Amino acid sequence: MLAASGTFGYGVEFESIVDLSQLGGIIVKGLSREPLAGNPPPRIWEAEGGMINSIGLQNIGVRAFVRDKLPSLRHYQTPLFANVFGYEQADYLEVVQVLEDAEGLAGYELNVSCPNTKHGGIFFSSDTAMLENLVASVKQIARRPVMVKLSPNVSSIAAIAKAAEAGGADAISLVNTFISLAVDARTRKPRIGAGFGGLSGPAIKPIALRMVYEVARAVKIPVVGLGGIGTGEDAAEFMIAGATAVEVGTATFWDPRSPLRIANELGDFLAAQKISNIREIVGTLQMP
Ligand SMILES: Cc1cc2nc3c(=O)[nH]c(=O)nc-3n(C[C@H](O)[C@H](O)[C@H](O)COP(=O)(O)O)c2cc1C
Repeated sequence: MLAASGTFGYGVEFESIVDLSQLGGIIVKGLSREPLAGNPPPRIWEAEGGMINSIGLQNIGVRAFVRDKLPSLRHYQTPLFANVFGYEQADYLEVVQVLEDAEGLAGYELNVSCPNTKHGGIFFSSDTAMLENLVASVKQIARRPVMVKLSPNVSSIAAIAKAAEAGGADAISLVNTFISLAVDARTRKPRIGAGFGGLSGPAIKPIALRMVYEVARAVKIPVVGLGGIGTGEDAAEFMIAGATAVEVGTATFWDPRSPLRIANELGDFLAAQKISNIREIVGTLQMP
């Protein structure tokens, strides 16, 4: 059970309320080459069955992360993953290079749901050739495992996953948020300052499950599932669909201890089902 990127800060903010060493892993919020101030408010809107956000990838920048945050996280045994993003290939490479020089990380999660400004703003997550190329170049410099986090805003998720695998990805995580729009009928303006936002939470779970199932069948590398997981049984559903691990995001906004509660619930669920090894359920969906 991993804490999903962007929903668990840099981890350290939670150390007084959550026993971080109990987590299966922490994925810190997205890191970029330079600090980013993010989008204008409002940045979050509670939608039906979920949440829309447009934080704009606000972060302190990779160098400040290494200097100010990483030292206090290192002493936890919990695997720590850096979520990395950029607006051109060189950005990703520079962020990973800075992290390579630092100790205390278990691996990287590449957030590829970003437009490539050098290629007309095409999203890395929606172009197979561009994605394969990006992953291959990161793999050349990364000594740690590289997980590629896919966007659900594509027509063929399996083809995109195969491109990440061809580039040398060690694992794939999905899904990121769904591009969405909340409208205030009275002011006739979007509810989110930047206009569109990303939908997450229970509302997206059925679509995330379908995509995890498709990707798990398309690739040989491990698949990490997320999207609306709020209970242990939700986590089991993702594993039955083919995920070998799961991340918890939006549920942390309702209760910061959600990842631990969900892990406990999953254990109880497996015990009640008389399943001794969680691997027994992975990819066992009986599709008609
Ligand atoms: C407020 C917020 C910030 C997020 N920031 C990031 C981020 O920096 N990098 C990233 O890869 N995903 C980010 N995400 C996406 C989540 O990690 C996750 O993929 C998505 O919310 C779906 O999972 P969930 O329904 O469990 O939240 C963010 C999500 C939210 C709600």
